[in-house]
Amino acid sequence: MKATAIAGANIALIKYWGNRDDALRLPMNGSIALTLDRLTTTTTVAFDGDLERDLIQLDAVEPHHEAHARVATHLDRIRRLAGEERWGRVVSRSNFPSGVGLAASASGFAALTLAASSALGLELEERELTSLARLGSGSAARSMLGGFVEWVAGSSHEDSYAYQLAPPDHWALCDCVAVVGETPKPVGSADGHRLAATSPLQVARVRQVELDIEPMRQAIRERDLPQLGSLMERDALSMHAVMMTSDPSLFYWTPATVAVMTAVRRWRMEGLGAWFTIDAGPNVHVLVPEEESDEAAARLRGIEGVQRVIQARSGPGARLSDEHLV
Ligand code: DP6
Repeated sequence: MKATAIAGANIALIKYWGNRDDALRLPMNGSIALTLDRLTTTTTVAFDGDLERDLIQLDAVEPHHEAHARVATHLDRIRRLAGEERWGRVVSRSNFPSGVGLAASASGFAALTLAASSALGLELEERELTSLARLGSGSAARSMLGGFVEWVAGSSHEDSYAYQLAPPDHWALCDCVAVVGETPKPVGSADGHRLAATSPLQVARVRQVELDIEPMRQAIRERDLPQLGSLMERDALSMHAVMMTSDPSLFYWTPATVAVMTAVRRWRMEGLGAWFTIDAGPNVHVLVPEEESDEAAARLRGIEGVQRVIQARSGPGARLSDEHLV
C-alpha cells in the first residue's frame, strides 16, 4: 500500500498556456516538451487505515491550504479509480526550488500520479496515466514520459494525453537553466491559464501553435536545431506577449531575463548554437548541443544577475523507486 516514484521536470518547446476547460485541464493547444534528467521530484504515497485525513508534506513542510487541496483532490481521483477509502500520507521532495517557473508541478504531479496509482495496485496503460497526471497539472502529462514528448490537446479527458515523440538518447541537447530569481512567482500557472483568454493576442497565438506543431515534430525528427530553436523562441515570446497583454497583466521578466535573451542572440551571431525559452517565471532555459553546454554555462554565469546555472539533459519518464521517503 506504499509506493515511491521519481519524475523529471520538462521544458516546453511549444508551450501550453490557457485551457478550453479549466476543471479538466483541456488545453487550448497541443504542446511539445523535453523531459529533463537533473530536476526531479521524488514522492512516496502510503495509504493507511489508521489515518484520519490526508497528511501531505512537500519539501519538508505542510503546504498551505490551496496546495494541500490540490494534492488531496488528485489523491481522491486516484482513490476513486481504485475504490479505495483510506487516507494517504504523501511525502515529496524536489531537488530544485518550486514556484519559480522551473515546473515543480509537472514533476510533482507526475510522481504523485505514478506513486499513488502503483500503491493502490491500479494497472493503467501509459496513455491513461498521462491523462490522469494532466488532471493534477497540465504539464505533468508530459513529465510521465521521457525524452521528447507531445501532449495532444484533445477535446475530452480520454483524448487529451501525452505520447513520446523520441527517446532521451535521440538527440544530445542540454538545457542550461540560467536561474535569475528564486522567489516564488506572484501568480502561479493555474491562475495564469485562466487569464490567457483575456488577452487579445491569445486567439492569434493558438492559431500559430497549431501551425507550429508539425514543423517542431520535424525539427526533432531531423535533429534540426536552428528550426527547433527559432520555433521555440518565437513560441516563448508569443506566450509572454499573451501574459503581458492579459487583464490583469502578467509580467515575469526581470532585467537579468532580458540580459540573457539578448546575450543568447548575440552568441548565436558569433557561432554558438544556443536558443532560449522561458516558462512562467524570470529564469531562462538555454538549449544548446551537448558539446557546447559547458561553454554556454560559463558564458551565462558571466552575466550580471545570473545566480546559478543548472545543466540538465534529456531524461527518462516517471519511474518507480525502492527508496521510500517514509
Ligand atoms: C508556462 O502545467 O504548470 O510552463 O495545469 O495549472 O498546473 P497547471 O499549469 P502548468 O502550466 C505550464 C505553463 C508553462 C508552459 C508549459 O510548460 O507548457
